[in-house]
Amino acid sequence: MPKNNKSMSNSTKISRVGINPSTNFGIPNPPVYHASTILYPKSESRRKRNVPYQYGRMGTPTSDVLCKAIAELYEAEGSIIAPSGLAAAVVGILSFVKSGDHFLVADSAYGSTRKFITEFLPSINVEVEFYEPRVNSTEFERLVRKNTSLIYFESPGSLTFELQDFPALTKVAKKYKITTITDNTWGTALGQNPFKLGVDAVIESYTKYVSGHSDVMMGGVISNGKNLKKILKQANIMGQCTGPDDIYLALRGLRTMEIRLEKSFSSSIQIAEWISKINMVTNVLHPATRFHPDHKIFKRDFNIGAGLFSFELDTHNTKIVDKFIDSLKLFGIGASWGGFESLILEADINKIRNHKTYKNGTLIRLAIGMEDPKELIDDLDQAFKKIN
Ligand SMILES: Cc1ncc(COP(=O)(O)O)c(C=O)c1O
Repeated sequence: MPKNNKSMSNSTKISRVGINPSTNFGIPNPPVYHASTILYPKSESRRKRNVPYQYGRMGTPTSDVLCKAIAELYEAEGSIIAPSGLAAAVVGILSFVKSGDHFLVADSAYGSTRKFITEFLPSINVEVEFYEPRVNSTEFERLVRKNTSLIYFESPGSLTFELQDFPALTKVAKKYKITTITDNTWGTALGQNPFKLGVDAVIESYTKYVSGHSDVMMGGVISNGKNLKKILKQANIMGQCTGPDDIYLALRGLRTMEIRLEKSFSSSIQIAEWISKINMVTNVLHPATRFHPDHKIFKRDFNIGAGLFSFELDTHNTKIVDKFIDSLKLFGIGASWGGFESLILEADINKIRNHKTYKNGTLIRLAIGMEDPKELIDDLDQAFKKIN
């Protein structure tokens, strides 16, 4: 039995990362410390700040457990917690761009992250450029400028699920000493380790699979060395902190993340393959299926994927789309994913892409939950029959 967490598989690690029961009366779960004030023993200790915890906003033993657990799963040095995945992306980005910089962003980046990038960064004089997510390394190198300070990946991309060739693209970034961040919410620490593929920092929305029960908003940024120092400083300056009850729920979710992810992922492949045979469906976008254009990258870089994918319905008629979605009984109409319940959304990507890739039909996104996949397929079947 391996004693050291480093020699364990993530599967074993996930049940013990971050905790040390021997320092907690033998109790595996950490106490939920509600803290703003933290008392210093002496005036001098306040002056020297030589205490483990100074003030609630700057971290507590409860938040430390989650920070450590996630960093250990990514085999990284440390992490910060933010009150949402979007807040984590904002901290990550602002840690590495300043006025006068050029910033390269994958065109398939998550919509709200994109909104922050397009609506806020120009106001601090950061020049933003969106690149086509399937860019090859030669084309990518041409986009680099003298003042490019940050590259923001998301693989697979939101809604359209393009995978990015991290080893090839990060080689270019390293050549020009440009920092790279990726949103690894779909990948998760169990599915893809971007650090091993050359990426410098990871953001993840813990709202999704980490918490996993549709009740918590949270995110984190994970990194190493001087990049981690910059991220810690940025999170601190921006006053990022998250309540201990939510952190506890995220930790509780984390312990069972693997089995939830496995179920959601395997059901999603069954469903994606079934949908691909429907006449009205022109495209199924799930990186783990053989017919996905980037499947080779998926097989190379991922241990497991997520249960979120899209398909293209061969119509622009909103009445047909509404009839299909409203006929479903087991899919809730709503945002987010990685929870226990299956969800469906119509995705209007044309407003959030510079390089338009999917414009033939209507893009529908499915998040597959914990239900019986056969019953989900039966539900989709009856809804497709209503519009055929
Ligand atoms: C890929 C991706 N990244 C980041 C986020 C933002 O996370 P949150 O909703 O926790 O702010 C989302 C939310 O849907 C997402 O899908």
